[in-house]
Amino acid sequence: MIELTDLTKIYLGPNGRLEENVQALSNITLKVREGNVVAITGESGSGKTTLLNILASRTEPTTGSVLVNNIPIHMLPMQELQEYWRSKVHYIHQNMRENLQYDLTVNENYEIFEILSDSIDPDVLREYTSDLGIEKLLDTKVLHLSGGEKQMVCLGIAMAKNIELLILDEPTSALDEVNKHVVIKKIIQKCREGNITLIYTSHDPEISQYADVIIGINHGRFDRILKRQISESNVKDLVQGIYHEVPVDSKGAIHLPKFIIEKLEIGEMVEIRLEEDHLRIYPIKEGRNQ
Ligand SMILES: Nc1ncnc2c1ncn2[C@@H]1O[C@H](COP(=O)(O)OP(=O)(O)OP(=O)(O)O)[C@@H](O)[C@H]1O
Ligand SMILES: [Mg+2]
Repeated sequence: MIELTDLTKIYLGPNGRLEENVQALSNITLKVREGNVVAITGESGSGKTTLLNILASRTEPTTGSVLVNNIPIHMLPMQELQEYWRSKVHYIHQNMRENLQYDLTVNENYEIFEILSDSIDPDVLREYTSDLGIEKLLDTKVLHLSGGEKQMVCLGIAMAKNIELLILDEPTSALDEVNKHVVIKKIIQKCREGNITLIYTSHDPEISQYADVIIGINHGRFDRILKRQISESNVKDLVQGIYHEVPVDSKGAIHLPKFIIEKLEIGEMVEIRLEEDHLRIYPIKEGRNQ
């Protein structure tokens, strides 16, 4: 089980002035059960990479905690963290330069991964290489690969690793229309077979649709569930930040969170509609109720 609780990330501005700080994440709470496949989607700058960096313990959260199978990853001493990276988790960064050594060949990169990771079987890695059709690239320097080929190489390594958690940041962004589907399906199949938890980001709805649940992030907050194949109660448990319990006072007034009021530009009135077992609340746009 992965439990992110009340995560906040503030990047400090370069000159120490408060107004230059960037709040990349606000109160993110998420629970992911072992073997679940979760996609996170949102506009550029919404906080996806920041969230994955924290999940992989590459960046420290400003506040909040990250538990992976009850281990507080955000507080691990470096030696234990390195052990965690070696054996339990694999992260493909959005920035390819963090994944591969550009001046080495694909094969030399493989050798580095085989040394650095307890959990890569070289034979399995070669099998995935031919399965993905990239065996012809083994002696090519990474520098000379196309963006899509670099992603394929990284995905081959990820698939050959025997791990508990796979984190992928925009894994198919440089692949063509056909390959992006082929590859994401193969990865998800591999995760399902090995009961590996998969968390990935994608701007591309065709790619995020393969997940069990798609969570939308907006200005550093989870704000919507776009698709789910799991029950409503499991979603509630999974993404606690999306469901807001708000008080209704003795006169029947509902107290909405400030960020919802700001996001929907709610003024002094809202329109409510009673459905069979729930209520819809709509902002009244200026001028409509005059
Ligand atoms: N190291 C950093 N220092 C300062 N600000 C940062 C840093 N990293 C990210 N940010 C800012 O934090 C916000 C979230 O960035 P992040 O990279 O997490 O977004 P993203 O959702 O992954 O975007 P994209 O879809 O373009 O990859 C942005 O406003 C970004 O400029
Ligand atoms: Mg990003």
